Amino acid sequence: MKRSLAALDGSRLDGQRVLVRVDFNVPLKDGVVGDDTRIRASLPTIEFLRGKGARVILLSHLGRPKGGPDPGLSLKPVGRRLEQLLGAPVRFVEHPETEEAVTLTRRLPRGGVALAENTRFYPGEEKNDAELAKRFAALGDLYVDDAFGSAHRAHASTEAVAHLLKPAVAGFLLEKELRYLGEALDNPRRPFIAILGGAKVSGKIELIDHLLPRVDRILIGGAMACTFFRAMGLEVGRSLVEDDRLEVARRLIEQGGDRLILPSGCVIAPDLREAVTSMAVPRHRIPVSFAVYDIDPNTAREYGSLIRESATVLWNGPMGVFETPPFDAGTRSIAMAMAEATERGTVTIVGGGDSAAAVTGMGMADRMTHVSTGGGAALEFLEGKELPGVAALDDA
Ligand code: 3PG
Repeated sequence: MKRSLAALDGSRLDGQRVLVRVDFNVPLKDGVVGDDTRIRASLPTIEFLRGKGARVILLSHLGRPKGGPDPGLSLKPVGRRLEQLLGAPVRFVEHPETEEAVTLTRRLPRGGVALAENTRFYPGEEKNDAELAKRFAALGDLYVDDAFGSAHRAHASTEAVAHLLKPAVAGFLLEKELRYLGEALDNPRRPFIAILGGAKVSGKIELIDHLLPRVDRILIGGAMACTFFRAMGLEVGRSLVEDDRLEVARRLIEQGGDRLILPSGCVIAPDLREAVTSMAVPRHRIPVSFAVYDIDPNTAREYGSLIRESATVLWNGPMGVFETPPFDAGTRSIAMAMAEATERGTVTIVGGGDSAAAVTGMGMADRMTHVSTGGGAALEFLEGKELPGVAALDDA
């Protein structure tokens, strides 16, 4: 257990400069924030600190700049969106490594907010460089980590800084993520099922290995089902298959027994661009000239019943090519079944990445118990790995 922001004496935050690492790595389109979910997710932490009279200094990365500043990856548009959401000005700190930046943080009004430029504009960030971390640490009197989405990165602003600036505690978003994902792994209400999809089984092997002993069932979807199909000796036509993972797939089928459930049928087409000729077939009837692009309506119904009978559902990875209708139907039906289950008291958790984007795009994020803001971080946490950004924080 890590020390949390809620455990600090709130009265002592008045006037303090609080350095908050957030994950504002959001999609930008024509210089405007496309999806502000991650910004909104950290508002409770920011608003709480402002309400206590703290001076809030935010650090985040954006994208993957190569070897230095990249104007297209400036956090300025994110600052503008944050101003709208807060209804308050946000001071932009162009050069957070300088003495001027330190002076600026001291001059912020109580309850004021500043946002530093992209931490990845500094080569030391991804090297977890102690000197850069020292610069960042000078911007605050204490450290709050709310960047769950970046917690799997041991970077200067997520790891090294937490050793230099104390107390170093978890913000409300980070705490919430660890609680929901942690409880699913360690103490789930049962029956507990996991639904795993996505294109490749190679990226999900550790996840399946970690989940199998913990779940009552794992339901598989997405193109990765095809690697399992081929491992079972089924024809998969032109579907995406990882031939170098057939052995692993066989092992998982054997270990999983009746806890590992594969789609009974699929939606197929000759090509992704030829959706008009798509059709549903049982999994043993995939013609050689077709490829699998979604689970079929029967599988969607079977999975839907299992979801509705469960007390905890964890979902990671889409069931098909959800960006290209009609191959979004399987993913949509899982989201619908989960939303209905939530209403009846099931704990429904969407474990980040593509499935979170799908649920958000379908306008159903509010109907889940928890939608993780982490992609890689959620995956690594669910695989049982220690997240360096979390490990560096103070123990409770
Ligand atoms: C994410 O979007 O998963 C996080 O912000 C981490 O970004 P990264 O994969 O570029 O480190």
